[in-house]
Amino acid sequence: MESIRTASLIDTVKFNLLHIVPYFLRGIFTKNRFWSLLFDFVHPDPLAVKFCQALRAKYRSGYVYTYLIRNKSLLVFDDNGIKQVLDNSPSIYADPDLKRMGMSHFQPNALTISRGDEWSDRRQFNESVLESSHKVHENAEIFLNIIRLEIGTLLEGDCKRIGWEAFDRLFKRVTLQVIFGRSAKTDTELTDRLDRMMQESNRVFLLGKSKDFDAFYARIRAYFTKPEAGSLIARCSHAPSSPVTREENQVTHWMFAMMETLATNTLRALALIVAHPGIEEKVRIQLARYTELSAYDIGSLQYLRGCLQDAMRLWPTTALLARLMLADDQLAGVTVPAKTQVVILNSFLHRDSETQPFADRFAPEQWLETETNYHFNHLSNGRQVCAGKYLALFLGTAVLAEFLRKGRYKLLRPRLNPLRPLPHAFNEFRIRLERIPYY
Ligand code: HEM
Repeated sequence: MESIRTASLIDTVKFNLLHIVPYFLRGIFTKNRFWSLLFDFVHPDPLAVKFCQALRAKYRSGYVYTYLIRNKSLLVFDDNGIKQVLDNSPSIYADPDLKRMGMSHFQPNALTISRGDEWSDRRQFNESVLESSHKVHENAEIFLNIIRLEIGTLLEGDCKRIGWEAFDRLFKRVTLQVIFGRSAKTDTELTDRLDRMMQESNRVFLLGKSKDFDAFYARIRAYFTKPEAGSLIARCSHAPSSPVTREENQVTHWMFAMMETLATNTLRALALIVAHPGIEEKVRIQLARYTELSAYDIGSLQYLRGCLQDAMRLWPTTALLARLMLADDQLAGVTVPAKTQVVILNSFLHRDSETQPFADRFAPEQWLETETNYHFNHLSNGRQVCAGKYLALFLGTAVLAEFLRKGRYKLLRPRLNPLRPLPHAFNEFRIRLERIPYY
């Protein structure tokens, strides 16, 4: 390729209206209920995906320059380019200013907004505590018991309807116990303070210090002084760390990712499973092999884990990955200059029916062969792959298994038709499941 072309003004405006404006209004760090309900209602069609396909055809390339509001950015649609970017993150492709500004509001020094030696130091710490390369965490049996007890309580009595509120509460309680221990399970002050800071950070600009910041971190530090056995916090003192690590900021990211993000993906996966009778049957046959599931068994429920991964692929909670180039680099044989912003658009790539035959259907089976595919970056890939990938998949799979073993469910709304292409938006706030318990 001789050079990378720049999208015309009209294409740039369309791109921003279809992708970037909804991305900001929906909420970058925590969902804005009003805007996400509105966009998902008026805009569940494939228009935004079709537009990117047309862009790629028009400029005859897997790389197109455009502007994200005012920032010149390179859209990377090409799989080799995506791999190049992610395998060289964050050394060449680092966190962009906007993400750093927004995230610093509640988790300054978090791994995901770190670079250079600081990133290496914090990555080592995260990988050690989260056991990033293990499908089943050393404390998994404890985590599984927490999930079992919490779901048992949730479904107690005559619980007939399940929706976002129940999942939100469930994942907050599970998160508090997995990270800080059982004694923290009702610490809503901690989760409320983080919720408020995340809502503020959605604004990104003109962010003063939050009035919740000091009280939130004082509480986190208090947990560090009396770590409960079996919690993630208790593992921190055994993990490699230095004054650069800033452990309390790493912990905040774990909360951030384990509450809303994991709850959303797991609820959508449950809705998808029960709306696809053939897939549900396969899952139930797999589950029926066990009278009692151990943590190890949860780790071997590959098909159910595939259901969760595919829910994440269909409606990626991280709609795009953005990077700022710290040095010049070659992409498709062309030099791309330092300071360029690079964008990997998950919301398009995951639904690109021109390159992915199963783009618009629920396809858990594709995750049986490999759990790493650079085309799908809902958990990212490469050096900065989600450090909590296997922990998140374990917790989500355990929740799904537990729910499915406790009854049958009917998706009341929003409707999903397994015989038609799946909608491009599926609003978790609207999900209602009817439960038919086993007696
Ligand atoms: C469904 C749940 C989750 C999803 C969809 C998710 C997704 C992601 C994505 C897309 C990234 C890359 C972001 C970027 O580079 O811009 C990431 C990074 C990260 N995630 Fe997750 N995540 C989830 C759960 C978790 C959990 C539960 C933890 C920890 C307990 C965690 C810890 C991390 C960390 C530490 C990073 C930064 C990695 C680095 O920069 O080296 N995530 N996650």
